[in-house]
Amino acid sequence: MEEHFTDPLGRMLRKLGVNRPTLCKCETNNVYDKKCNFCEGIIVRNPFSSSFRLKGILYGPEQIKTRVEELAMAIDSSYPCPDASELVLLGALTGAYVFLSDLSRAVRTPHKIAFVRASSYHGGTQTTGKVQVSHEELKSLDLEGKDILIVEDILDTGFTYHALREALRKVCPPRSIEFCAMLSKPDKLQVAQLNVKPKFIGFQMRPPKFVVGYGLDYRGYFRDLPFIAEAAEVKQ
Ligand code: IMP
Ligand code: MG
Repeated sequence: MEEHFTDPLGRMLRKLGVNRPTLCKCETNNVYDKKCNFCEGIIVRNPFSSSFRLKGILYGPEQIKTRVEELAMAIDSSYPCPDASELVLLGALTGAYVFLSDLSRAVRTPHKIAFVRASSYHGGTQTTGKVQVSHEELKSLDLEGKDILIVEDILDTGFTYHALREALRKVCPPRSIEFCAMLSKPDKLQVAQLNVKPKFIGFQMRPPKFVVGYGLDYRGYFRDLPFIAEAAEVKQ
């Protein structure tokens, strides 16, 4: 049989019995047609063409779904008495919107949801360490005395989580603050500096990689992908 698969993801798909590849429209050469067990036929259109490439799917839709359900169960057992807790899932915009939407529908403990703008990345693939959280915005959310579960797409250095936690404590002290992220990069977490102890983490990514999909972006794009893929800027 003719060898279609030349890249590592392709070879892996072949091992899984996927035999009919079709290159994706963006020609990143790593997304296949509807026979694909991972991307379920989603065609990725890459607005960056040759300057940015998807390198392979790390967590597929089914894997993510299962993990979200497990996290929701862990969260439910953490707030065992709905009458005694006033749970609010507080999503950090923009990246948390997809994860929070799935998580909220899997969590059975009665809860409210709220979103706050917090951003430490400014467009590229490296964190800047500077996080902006609007105190006015937090004040308007009625979070004082509540049980807050901060929800982020990914815990990288931890600066965003730290900034949100400190701002909450200062502006509208909640009864409790916990943290949940779909992904974390443990090797980059500034634990000693920030005293960050994340409670609920979907997947620990070791070694750390730059990823897109499931809410995670590169310059605002790729958030809509139903899987999480490794990606990289290409030096021209
Ligand atoms: P932290 O403040 O360094 O923990 O970074 C958290 C934020 O950086 C996340 O909410 C994401 O918006 C962004 N981020 C970190 N790593 C990645 C990545 O691999 N892809 C896309 N965004 C990322
Ligand atoms: Mg973000």
